[in-house]
Amino acid sequence: MIEVQGLTRTYGDYTAIDDVSFTCKPGRVTGFLGPNGAGKTTTMRIMIGLTTATRGEATIGGYHYHDIVNPGRHVGVLLDASAQHAGRTGQEILRIGARTMDLPSSRVDEMLAQVSLSESEAKRKLRNYSLGMKQRLGIAHALLGDPEVLILDEPANGLDPAGIRWMRDLLRDYARRGGTVLLSSHLLHEVELVADELILIGHGKIVAQGDKESLSAADAKQSTLVTAHDNVQLAAALAAEGLESTPRARACASLPARRT
Ligand SMILES: Nc1ncnc2c1ncn2[C@@H]1O[C@H](COP(=O)(O)OP(=O)(O)O)[C@@H](O)[C@H]1O
Ligand SMILES: [Mg+2]
Repeated sequence: MIEVQGLTRTYGDYTAIDDVSFTCKPGRVTGFLGPNGAGKTTTMRIMIGLTTATRGEATIGGYHYHDIVNPGRHVGVLLDASAQHAGRTGQEILRIGARTMDLPSSRVDEMLAQVSLSESEAKRKLRNYSLGMKQRLGIAHALLGDPEVLILDEPANGLDPAGIRWMRDLLRDYARRGGTVLLSSHLLHEVELVADELILIGHGKIVAQGDKESLSAADAKQSTLVTAHDNVQLAAALAAEGLESTPRARACASLPARRT
C-alpha cells in the first residue's frame, strides 16, 4: 500500500506539485498519467526520499521510505533506466544490486531470464544498450528483491509494441499475486490496458482519480465541441456513426467566402 497525503513541492515561487494525495492498493496496478512536466517524477522521487517534500508525506506499507530496512526487498524502483554506470555490464549491475540486498547471485540469472535479456546481452556494457534493453534491465533490477511494491517511472519508454505487451503481462501477473504497482506514463494508451486505477495529474495537481471503469464512464458523459464547413452534414455523419450531437447557437457560423 502506498499512501500519499497532501504532497507539495515548491522550487522558489514555482510549485512543481500541489497538494497531491492518492492511495495505491495491493493487487492493483495504478497508472499515474500526465503530460511532460506535470509532476509525476517529482512525486515518485519524494516517495522514495530522493527529493524532500515542502509539505505533506508519502508512506509505503506505513513507513517512510528511508525508515525501511533493506528497502530493495520491499520496494522495487525504476526511475531512470540510464542512471547506471555506463561501463558496467547488465549482469554486473544486477550482481551489485543482489549483493547490496543480500540476495543469492542465482537471483540475477532468474531476473535476466524473466526480462528476456540473453546471456550475450547481459555481458554487454550498459553504454551499448538500447533504451528498451535499459528498461528491461531496470525492471529486472526493480524485481530483484521480490518486493511487494513497484514504483516505475515511464517504464514503457523505448519499448517496442511487443515489449509493451510483455511489460503489461508482467505487471498484471505481479498485481494478481498481490503486488502494488504504481507506474507513470505520459501516454494514455500505454497505461489504460494495464491499469486498474488511474490518477491523472496536470500542472502539479491531481485532476481526476478512480478506477478505470468509473473514469471512462465519467469521460463518456463529457462532450466535445466540433465544427465544420457544413455542420448539417457533420451532424448527419455523426448520427450515421451512432454519435449524438447537439447543435449550438453560432456554432454553425459559416466561414467567410474566400475571395477569388
Ligand atoms: N530540481 C528542480 N528545480 C526546479 N524545477 C524542477 C526541479 N525538478 C522538477 N522541476 C519542475 O517541476 C515540474 C514537474 O517536473 P517532473 O516531476 O519531472 O514532471 P513529469 O515527470 O510529470 O514530466 C517541471 O516543470 C519541472 O521543470
Ligand atoms: Mg518524468
